[in-house]
Amino acid sequence: KEKATGTSYAKIIFFGEHSVVYGKPAVAIPLYSVDVSATLERTVIGQTIHCRYFDGPISQMNDNLQGVRVLIDRLLNLFEANELSFRLTIESKVPAERGMGSSAATAIALVRAFFNLFEKPLSRLELLTLADIEEKITHGNPSGLDAATASSEAPIWFIKNQVNEQIEFHRSNLCLVIADSGIKGKTSEAVSLVHNNLIDEPDMAMPLIDQLGQIATTARQALADSDQVTLGRLMSQSQTDLAKLGVSTKALDQFCQIAITYNALGAKLTGSGLGGCMIALAKNQRDAQIIATKLRQAGATQTWIQSFKNYEFT
Ligand code: MEV
Repeated sequence: KEKATGTSYAKIIFFGEHSVVYGKPAVAIPLYSVDVSATLERTVIGQTIHCRYFDGPISQMNDNLQGVRVLIDRLLNLFEANELSFRLTIESKVPAERGMGSSAATAIALVRAFFNLFEKPLSRLELLTLADIEEKITHGNPSGLDAATASSEAPIWFIKNQVNEQIEFHRSNLCLVIADSGIKGKTSEAVSLVHNNLIDEPDMAMPLIDQLGQIATTARQALADSDQVTLGRLMSQSQTDLAKLGVSTKALDQFCQIAITYNALGAKLTGSGLGGCMIALAKNQRDAQIIATKLRQAGATQTWIQSFKNYEFT
């Protein structure tokens, strides 16, 4: 092919951020309205990349894009195409460093674009293994949850190195509000903070990790039962636990409060915390619109509403 595109989604962790790093289960959803596309075109000369951070030859890419560069090298090796001349354009709606899996979504779209260009079949395992090359460089030792969600068309149930399955909850009538605090949250810093807490204060931190894992398990059942009240309660319980682990912020706490004041069934940070985004479960579309407006008035830089009412599992 002369030209090929790969796509992916932003990810929202519903339940289980941080505890997933310690082998506990997590539930995460792709955010369909926030996507990434990577378009790879053969050219006559050069290897260039065009994205929001960089525009120019791959060889001159700055260090914070090292993960992407290493992944591209690996893909070129894989296809024995080191001499390939190309132009790679990455268009991303995912805000960076907000716990929405921006880097994982880029990696997934990129791998898909290469496989499409060379018209090679790509298994899910191979896709995630390749994306992990970039994620390890960018985030240290990620659980893989971000890439698993960014590449999925459905919500997923995930246990690090064990389970990565799509789950059905189309019976649920879920209406989620996502709000970006506009503050960058560094995943690696948040992950180290939790790690240090586990070392320094295991009696405080370990039970919280266990509880976050149990919450994810209970939430899966609540999703299957369409039990929104329980889901909301579990979200707010997660927020309390994550705050005790030290990864919430004033802005995120305040957003959760606002959502609850305007009738949300529950609210929590989503992703690594220390900045980034919050999600709230609204009772219906109307409430969701009000919550989103109030959050923007309180300083959210962007809000999204995702409804699962007509969600069809394929
Ligand atoms: C980051 O989006 C989610 C964390 O659980 C880290 C990880 O899963 O690697 C905080």
